Amino acid sequence: MQTDLLRTSSAAEKNKAVRHAVELLQQGEIVALPTETVYGLAADALNPIAVATIFEAKERPRFDPLIVHLPNREWLERIVRLPEKDRELIFRLADKFWPGPFTMILPKLEIVPDIVTAGLDTVAVRLSAHPVFAQIASALDKPLAAPSANRFGRISPTTAQHVFDELDGRIPLIIDAGPAEHGIESTIVAVRDGGIEILRRGPITAEQLRGIGFQPALHQQNTDAAIVAAPGQLPSHYAPKTLLRLIDNAETYSPPKNQRVGFLAWSGRVTSRAGFVAIRNLSARQDLREAATNLFRHLRELDALGLDLIVAERIPSRGLGAAIMDRLERASHR
Ligand code: TXA
Ligand code: MG
Repeated sequence: MQTDLLRTSSAAEKNKAVRHAVELLQQGEIVALPTETVYGLAADALNPIAVATIFEAKERPRFDPLIVHLPNREWLERIVRLPEKDRELIFRLADKFWPGPFTMILPKLEIVPDIVTAGLDTVAVRLSAHPVFAQIASALDKPLAAPSANRFGRISPTTAQHVFDELDGRIPLIIDAGPAEHGIESTIVAVRDGGIEILRRGPITAEQLRGIGFQPALHQQNTDAAIVAAPGQLPSHYAPKTLLRLIDNAETYSPPKNQRVGFLAWSGRVTSRAGFVAIRNLSARQDLREAATNLFRHLRELDALGLDLIVAERIPSRGLGAAIMDRLERASHR
């Protein structure tokens, strides 16, 4: 299959790209689309065969459920049941964070095919703020199932080129809208029994939620319970092909001799250092937002160099740093 790439720089290009994407989605095809977090691989969520095609293209195991992206708020109650006890809480969260990088796990209605939720009785829902994604979803007027547009277990794509590198020949169309704004996947929270629990850290941080009066519980990672609660959160996710090791401090670290070692730096403006053949700085000004947008791109670039080892510096685990560290921990897990 030939994979087309359509750009959206001018209004004319954008309209053409949107029309083509909608046409394909209506026909049950899958299309890679930009979102504000990472690029997604989308299909009509109510068409189980189209959704199955996502699993095939990604080589994703069927036990790993997908996020459903709504065209608008009205669709929420068409696909989920809002328990009386949680109703107000859900609306407050939606008012605050939608559209945006925020996903809620809620009880699903019959209309959502089992393949989307991997047989769970809950479904992950989000409303993307990306203008191109939003335009496509509203023109289609159907919810879109869309996981990150990478092969299973690999690094999420933050540019259309990344998607092309992952899925060329497997999907008919990629819509290019430039680099993703946040660079890491949405925050996922489970809402139940009047409370919320963070299942995946992301751009909306625990601190932010607390700051406006929510009291999120933090899911214990890497336990059997965590795997049941967020099935895709396997310890070894976001894996580059190259071995990755986390270190506390680059000053006191010396890379193994006779090995080609790359360095993913947090602190300072490291541009060259003995022992490393390649260096990438997450953020020269130590800005966590900038670091998040660079993370997956830098990992991909280092991974493409055929190194023996990538060494990554730990970053402060506050705010967005916790979400970045979560990805790095998983990338280092074998
Ligand atoms: O930012 C994002 O969320 C991106 C963009 C494309 O929207 N999507 C994304 O999807 O990261 P994906 O499939 O790569 O990750 C979705 C995660 C998986 O870990 C999956 O197991 C979990 O959400 N998930 C989905 N439905 C769930 C459910 N009903 N209960 C618990 N976890 C669920
Ligand atoms: Mg993913």
